[in-house]
Amino acid sequence: MRETEQRAARAYTEKFGGEPDLIASAPGRVNLIGEHTDYNGGFVLPCAIDRRIAVAVGAGGRGGFETRLYSADFDQTRQIEDKDSSWADYPRGVAWAMGEAGHGIGGFRAAFAGDVPLGSGLSSSAAIEAATALALDAFFDLEAGRTDLAIICQRAENDYVGVGTGIMDQYASLLCEAGAALLIDCRSLEARSVPLDLATAGLALVVCDTRVERGLADTGYNDRRATCERAASMLGIDELRDATEGDLDLLSGAELKRARHVLSENARVLEAVEALENEDFDEFGRLMYASHASLCDDYEVSTPELDTFVEAAERHGATGARLTGAGFGGCAIALVEEGETATFTNACEQAFADRGFEEPAFYEFVPAAGAEVATGIGK
Ligand code: GLA
Repeated sequence: MRETEQRAARAYTEKFGGEPDLIASAPGRVNLIGEHTDYNGGFVLPCAIDRRIAVAVGAGGRGGFETRLYSADFDQTRQIEDKDSSWADYPRGVAWAMGEAGHGIGGFRAAFAGDVPLGSGLSSSAAIEAATALALDAFFDLEAGRTDLAIICQRAENDYVGVGTGIMDQYASLLCEAGAALLIDCRSLEARSVPLDLATAGLALVVCDTRVERGLADTGYNDRRATCERAASMLGIDELRDATEGDLDLLSGAELKRARHVLSENARVLEAVEALENEDFDEFGRLMYASHASLCDDYEVSTPELDTFVEAAERHGATGARLTGAGFGGCAIALVEEGETATFTNACEQAFADRGFEEPAFYEFVPAAGAEVATGIGK
């Protein structure tokens, strides 16, 4: 068992007594390319990271009816009722969405432990949702498919927690495979793994957390979504996925800029997949830089910190770099030659210090497995 899974199991025993019946865990993600395309019916290419949230689950208290949620990281116990804008809203939302989807859920006790950085845009929320969904699916023998579980998690996020995200993060957390990225067609919801053998290519995936809280992110995010919907309706199409180059002539202002990003970004995702399949990381990196430029100029979701990181990467000769996730703060990624990462991150730190920005945090992730029920413990 992974360390987080062991921690969740221990927390369960300490809090509720006895052994849990099962343990599941799910990862955070970074998106390699394909930003703000998911809610436009387009393409995305995320990969899971080797940071997870684990949950240990057992029968409910008081004859099985009472549900209790415990977080080892916050040392907090919560009931299933009473939404309170805490971490517990994610498992609550999943339990609620499962009921809405017609799955019978009884009482359960769940203890959570994780190591996905929180609030940095690495999808800790999708990780806790996916871990909960997979654990409840196994515990209550629901036999829902992973695609259905991802949709349930998105419903939890959109309609219970109240954040209007697309499907990318939940899909990535549930369906990614180790050593691979996941190409998702966010309209058909078909997904396939694309090998991402960074080690053989001598590359490392460096993630920079700019430490800029995504305070305004939700307003900005919803605003971008609304503009895309407006642009689509001006063009008489359901989603910007269907927009053509010619359509752009019919738009102006913010609608034109947002639509141009979505159009070019969708094309870049498909080109990036081809590049990965040809093991052409130089081309892949070029597409990453182009994605960042489009997110900066047309989608206008970058920040001075994210731009500073990408500029430092370019100066340093990194294969590729871009902001990842929603933007407005959070994280950026770079593909850097292995053995160069220390000098690279030092150079970035210096660039941040020179501009008076807060010191960033750096992580190196490997493309990891999606959600799993841990073996070695059975119901
Ligand atoms: C956030 C959302 C995703 C996606 C990205 C932008 O991470 O949760 O659904 O829209 O922003 O690509």
